[in-house]
Amino acid sequence: MNHVACSFVGFYLSTVFFLDSALLSEASSLRLGDNIVSLNGKWQLVNSNSTFSLSAEVPGCVHTALQRQGVISDPYYRFNDLAYRWISLDNWTYTTSFSLPACVEEVQDVQGKGKVVLVFEGVDTISTISLNGVTIGTTDNMFRRYDFDVTGLLKDQENILQVFIMSAVAYASQRSRAHTKYRVPPDCPPPVQKGECHVNFIRKAQSSFSWDWGPSFPTLGIWKGVRLEVFNTFRVLSFTTSLKYDSADSSWSVEVELFFDVVVASKGLVHISIPLLLSEAEFQLSLTPGQRKTSFILQVNQFQNVSLWWPFGHGDQRLYNLEINVKLDDGETFKAQRMVAFRTVELVQELIPSSPGLSFYFRINGKPIFLKGSNWIPVHAFQDQVTTDMITVLLRSAQKANMNALRVWGGGVYEQDFFYNLCDMYGIMIWQDFMFACALYPTERDFIQTVREEITQQVRRLKSHPSVVIWSGNNENEAAIATDWFNISVADRPLYVKDYVNLYVDNIRDIVLQEDSTRPFLVSSPTNGVESEREGWVAQNPYDPNFGDTHYYNYFTDCWDWTAFPRTRFASEYGFQSWPSLSTLSKVSVSSDWDFSSNFSAHRQHHEDGNQQMLRQAELHYILPNSTDSVQRYRDTIYITQVMQAQCVKIQTEFYRRSRSDISEGKGHTMGTLYWQLNDIWQGPSWSSVEFGGKWKMLHYWAADFYAPVLSVGIEDKGDLLIYAVSDRQSEQHSVKAKVKLFSWSSFNPVCSLESNMTTVKAGGSTLVFQQSMSALLSQCGNCTRRSCLITFHLSSAAEPISPHNHIFLSSPRQAEGLQKPNITFTVKDAGVVQNFAVTLHCSFPAVYVWLDVDDVPGHFNLNGFLMLSKKTTVIFGAWRSTSVEEITANLHITSLRDVY
Ligand SMILES: *[C@@H]1O[C@H](CO)[C@@H](O)[C@H](O)[C@H]1NC(C)=O
Ligand SMILES: *[C@@H]1O[C@H](CO)[C@@H](O)[C@H](O)[C@H]1NC(C)=O
Ligand SMILES: *[C@@H]1O[C@H](CO)[C@@H](O)[C@H](O)[C@H]1NC(C)=O
Ligand SMILES: *[C@@H]1O[C@H](CO)[C@@H](O)[C@H](O)[C@H]1NC(C)=O
Ligand SMILES: *[C@@H]1O[C@H](CO)[C@@H](O)[C@H](O)[C@H]1NC(C)=O
Ligand SMILES: *[C@@H]1O[C@H](CO)[C@@H](O)[C@H](O)[C@H]1NC(C)=O
Ligand SMILES: *[C@@H]1O[C@H](CO)[C@@H](O)[C@H](O)[C@H]1NC(C)=O
Ligand SMILES: *[C@@H]1O[C@H](CO)[C@@H](O)[C@H](O)[C@H]1NC(C)=O
Repeated sequence: MNHVACSFVGFYLSTVFFLDSALLSEASSLRLGDNIVSLNGKWQLVNSNSTFSLSAEVPGCVHTALQRQGVISDPYYRFNDLAYRWISLDNWTYTTSFSLPACVEEVQDVQGKGKVVLVFEGVDTISTISLNGVTIGTTDNMFRRYDFDVTGLLKDQENILQVFIMSAVAYASQRSRAHTKYRVPPDCPPPVQKGECHVNFIRKAQSSFSWDWGPSFPTLGIWKGVRLEVFNTFRVLSFTTSLKYDSADSSWSVEVELFFDVVVASKGLVHISIPLLLSEAEFQLSLTPGQRKTSFILQVNQFQNVSLWWPFGHGDQRLYNLEINVKLDDGETFKAQRMVAFRTVELVQELIPSSPGLSFYFRINGKPIFLKGSNWIPVHAFQDQVTTDMITVLLRSAQKANMNALRVWGGGVYEQDFFYNLCDMYGIMIWQDFMFACALYPTERDFIQTVREEITQQVRRLKSHPSVVIWSGNNENEAAIATDWFNISVADRPLYVKDYVNLYVDNIRDIVLQEDSTRPFLVSSPTNGVESEREGWVAQNPYDPNFGDTHYYNYFTDCWDWTAFPRTRFASEYGFQSWPSLSTLSKVSVSSDWDFSSNFSAHRQHHEDGNQQMLRQAELHYILPNSTDSVQRYRDTIYITQVMQAQCVKIQTEFYRRSRSDISEGKGHTMGTLYWQLNDIWQGPSWSSVEFGGKWKMLHYWAADFYAPVLSVGIEDKGDLLIYAVSDRQSEQHSVKAKVKLFSWSSFNPVCSLESNMTTVKAGGSTLVFQQSMSALLSQCGNCTRRSCLITFHLSSAAEPISPHNHIFLSSPRQAEGLQKPNITFTVKDAGVVQNFAVTLHCSFPAVYVWLDVDDVPGHFNLNGFLMLSKKTTVIFGAWRSTSVEEITANLHITSLRDVY
C-alpha cells in the first residue's frame, strides 16, 4: 500500500535556474495551481506466469528491478545480454495500490465539477492500464506522455492501479506479421548485432533492439513519472515560448503559448513579463471547456538592450527569466517561469559562385557559424539509470573539447529536459532528429496517429530551447531508399517513396511547420535539402557533396590520405572505431577475456569485421603490439586502436575545417563537422570519443585541439608542404606567421626552424600561410629524410602562439628511423589547486602518442596522447573526486608508440 500525499509542486516545466552549475539539479519546483499526487515509488512487479514477483521502483524498468532485487546480476557483464534475453520476451505487470489524500476527495466531492487525470510521462512501451479493475487505456509509444481521465473511478481507500506491459519483441513481430501487403524492411539486424527483429514496427528507442555499437535490451517498464492531477477549473498541459526577431524595426517579441485543459468556462487575465528587460503585458483570457490552445505576444521593450544568446566560442549564452501569471476571476491561479534566450537561426542553402549545387550552413544571429561537434546516442540502455551527473559529465566534456554542436541521433530517445537546459547554458547547439533510423516504416493509420501525437508533444516540449537549432525527420532513411539498402525492386520503389513522403513530409514536417516557425526542418540526415525536395524528397544521391549534409565511412582506405574524403558542405557523420580502456572493460569482464581474439572481444563487437578493420587501419602506419605478456598486449592493442582512431578523425576533421573557404573542383565551403560519436551506451568497442562512465579516449583529447577556435593545419599536396590557418572568429583579423620546425626522431633538438612571412588571416575562413616544396625543405634541412624527420608547426602572432601545436609525419611511424624506446619515467605532485595533480614526465628519447591512463580515477588530463619532443614535460590531471598523489601514482600507466613492440 502506498500512502501518497498531495503536493503543490510542479513537474515538467523544468524551468531551471542554473546560477551555479555545480548545483545543477533537475526541474526546480513550480506551483502550477493544481493538486499533484505522485504515484512514483515502490510498485509490485510480476511476470506472466508469476514465477517472479518483486518490488520495483517507478520510474524504472524490469531489468533494473530484477538487478536491484538480486534476481539477475549486471546485464552488461560479459555475455549477460544473451543470458537475459528471456526478460524481454516475457510480459510483465506493474501494480500499485494507494489511498487518496484529502485534496482529491475534496475535488471528487464537488459533484459535476472537478476532474482527476492520471498522467504517465512515459511508458515503455506496449501496455494496458487498469484502475480498480477498469481498463482506462493503452499505450504504444514510449516517446509520448499519456493522460487518462479517471474522474469518478477513484475510491478513498485501496485504489489498485495496474500496468500490463507486453513484450516489445513479441509486439513488433506481431505487427510485422499483420502487415501482409508488403514487407517493411529491414526484418532483422545483422547477426553480429545479436539483436531482435522488426524494431521499426514499434515506437520505442530503435537501438534497444541492438545497434552496431550497443546491446539488445528491449526494455519494458514505466520509465518516467506517474501522477494524478486533480483540479476544479483548469490545468496547464504545456507552456512554450518562441522568440522572434523583426529585422524591419530591429525588435524582438516573444510568442507564449499555453495549452489548457479546461473543466468549467472561465475568464481571467494572463500576465507575462521579462523583468530584467522591463517588458511586460497583460492579456484577457476566456476559456471554454475542453483542450484549448492560447497564444500571446509579448513585445520586448525597445529601449532595452537585449543580449543575444551565442553558440559556445562565439559569445555569451545569455538567458532571461520569463514569468507568466494566470489569474482567473474565480480566484484560481497558475504561475510559471522559464528561461528564454534571444537568437535567430537560419539554414542557408543558396548558390555559390564557381560551384554546382547549393551552400549548406547555419547562420546564427546573422553570422555564419561552423558547427563543431559530434553525435549523441542514448547514455544507457536502461534510461531510468541515466543520472544528471552522467549527462553533465558528457556535456562538459563536449564543451571542454571546444564543441559547439551535437546531433541527438534518431535511433535513440528524445533527451530529458535537463539535457536541453544544460545545452542552453553551455552554448551547445542541438541538431534534433526525430526518432526514426536506418529503416523503412509502416504507415498504418494507428502508427501515423501515434507518431503525430509524439511529434506534437516533443516539439512543444523542446521548441523553447535556444540550443535546438534544427529538426530533422530521420536518420539515413532517405539514403536507405535512394541507395537501396534493402533490395527493393525498381517496380516496388514508388510504394516505399510514397510511405516515406507520407510519414516524414505529409505528417511530421506538416506538424513541425505548424508548431514551430522559428527553426529549420530537414526531412532526413543525410539529405540534399532543397535539392532532395525538388527530386520528390528522395534524391538520387543523398550523399551528394554539393548539397546538404553527408555521412561518410571508409575503413579500408588509408585515412592519412585526405584526398579520399568527399569535400562535403557539412559532415554530419564520419568516424572510426576504437576499444575503451581496460579499466572500463574490466568492470564487465574477467582476465581470461583480455585478449583481442577472445570470445568476449568478438561478442562485444557489433560491427561486422570491426575488430579486424581497426587493426588493418592501424597496421598501415603502426607496428601492432606483440608483447609476450598477454594482458600487456591487450592493453597495448586497446591503445593502438585509440591512436588509430584519434589520428584518423583528426586528419578528416582538419580536412573539413580547412575546406571552409575553399572551392576545389567545385566542391568545398564545408561548414560543419559532427563526428560519430560522442558517447557510449555500454563498455564495448565503438566510434565514441568518451567511454561509458565518462573516461576520455585519446580522440576526445585531440578534439580539443582540432576544434580549437584558431587552428593550424598542415598537409602535403602535390609535393608541397602547405600550412593553413583556420579561424572561426567572427570579426578580428590576425596577422600571423607559421613557425615550422623539423625534428629527427632521435633527437630533442630541432634539425631546423623556419618561419613564414606575416600573413593576414581571414576571420571565419581558412588561409594558406606557408607553402614550400617538401623536397627542397628536406634538403635545406640537412640530413632529413621522410623516414628520419617529422614537422611541427603552430601559428604565432607577435610572440604569442595562437593555435595549438600541431605536427605531421612524413612517413608512417612504423617506418620511422631512429624512433627509440623513450624510457618514460614520472613523478606526481599536488598541483596546488584542489583535485589537481602535476605529473612530470622524463624521457630519454622523443616519444610519440604519449598516453597517460589512471585507470578508474575519474577526471582528465590537460593534455594527452601527445608528441613529446623535450626531455621533460608536465601535465595536469584534474580529478572529478577526491584522490591522492599515492592513488594516482599507483594507477598511472604511461604508454608511447615505441613501447608496444
Ligand atoms: C515462467 O516464465 C519464465 C520466464 O519467461 C520461464 O523461464 C519459466 O520457465 C516459466 N515457468 C513456468 C512454470 O512456466
Ligand atoms: C504476452 O502477452 C501477449 C498478449 O497478451 C500474449 O499473446 C503472449 O502469449 C504473452 N506472452 C507470455 C510469455 O505470456
Ligand atoms: C543600450 O546601449 C546603448 C549603447 O551601448 C547605451 O547608450 C544605452 O544606455 C543602453 N540602454 C540601456 C537601457 O541599457
Ligand atoms: C533481391 O531481390 C531479388 C528479387 O527481387 C532476389 O532475386 C534476390 O535474391 C535478392 N537479393 C538479395 C541479396 O536478397
Ligand atoms: C616572404 O616574402 C618574401 C617577399 O615577398 C618572399 O621572397 C619569401 O619567399 C617569403 N617567404 C616565405 C617563407 O614564404
Ligand atoms: C648528418 O648525419 C651524419 C651521420 O648521421 C652526421 O655525422 C652529421 O653530423 C650530420 N650532419 C648534420 C648537418 O646534421
Ligand atoms: C631511463 O631513465 C632513467 C631515469 O631517467 C635513467 O636512469 C636510465 O638510465 C634510462 N635508461 C635508458 C635505457 O635510457
Ligand atoms: C616485436 O616486434 C618487434 C618489431 O618487429 C621486434 O623487434 C620484437 O622482437 C618483437 N617482440 C617480440 C616479443 O616478439
